[in-house]
Amino acid sequence: MFELFTRELELCGVKPGEDVIVLTADDEWQEHAQAFMAAAAHLGANTFNLNLRRGQRNAVGVQGRHPLVGNQLALTTLKCASLVIDMVGLLFSREQAEIQAAGVRILRVMEPFHVLQQMFPTQDLRRRVEYAKCLLESAKQLRFTSDAGTDITYQLGQYPVISEYGFTAEAGRWDHFPSGFSFTQGNDGGVDGVVVMQPGDILCAFKQYVQSPVILQIRKGYVVDISGSGMDAELIRSYIDSFNDPRAYAVSHIGWGLNEKARWYQFSVTRQLPIEHVMNALSFYGNVLFSLGPNLELGGTNDTACHLDLPLRNCNLWLDDVQILKNGDVIHPEMRVDLAAAAM
Ligand code: FE2
Repeated sequence: MFELFTRELELCGVKPGEDVIVLTADDEWQEHAQAFMAAAAHLGANTFNLNLRRGQRNAVGVQGRHPLVGNQLALTTLKCASLVIDMVGLLFSREQAEIQAAGVRILRVMEPFHVLQQMFPTQDLRRRVEYAKCLLESAKQLRFTSDAGTDITYQLGQYPVISEYGFTAEAGRWDHFPSGFSFTQGNDGGVDGVVVMQPGDILCAFKQYVQSPVILQIRKGYVVDISGSGMDAELIRSYIDSFNDPRAYAVSHIGWGLNEKARWYQFSVTRQLPIEHVMNALSFYGNVLFSLGPNLELGGTNDTACHLDLPLRNCNLWLDDVQILKNGDVIHPEMRVDLAAAAM
């Protein structure tokens, strides 16, 4: 763990004299915290563990609610760091935005060690994810389709693009270790079409695979109808309905997976490990990362607490006239990996 985290902090550009704060809550991730501090000290940085109390109100999994809320001294301290290792889950919060605005880089780490090892990032992953970011920033339109009947178009340009490749060496930049995709959000009212989910697509909120087709009709950025012959359509509909919030039906971020080390089948072999999160599912090579719910992280105003990440397989995807994915495979030469060579 010490060796791997030292390599990770080297990728993050940690230098002697920098201040690395490891942010934890209660007794969570204590081994990771100790190993990150040992690695930071080994690289000559100053380091300590800022440990908060989580409490019921700030349970894991509730987005934008975390134990930093209302703790001004802790927030002020974090804003003085060079790098914050976030094992609390600040994502989607005002506090995270404030820390980044102070020039602090933030690295979120909330997967168990075997996943950090398995999906460990590389400079080549960074290059390909940043290439995807550049393409998304200049595109006017994103469209994806599938043989199952998916055909949906996003108008782009209103929202920024965020890259996640698993380390961060630039002041004020956030990243998530491990990961491997870029994403943006369709313009307000600018997403129309149909998404047909197929067996093998993933419902991340439930950590399970779709077993029966689900048809989502989308008009002006909102899901207006959910149908399907099996149980999955009902599961999705009743889950979203339970939030009693019409904004839960909004189409959220969109992008595609580029990490060839991430595994589509991960849940089927690690179901017994509740500690594992969903980074394999979000990042696996060639998935279309389709999602519903909030858009706060991209600067939007939808802060619904209902968020569904729905990685889709076997899709074709275009940015304007440039094809990126063909039947779930990355065909663009700048983002493609020679999987046979990578496996050797
Ligand atoms: Fe998401």
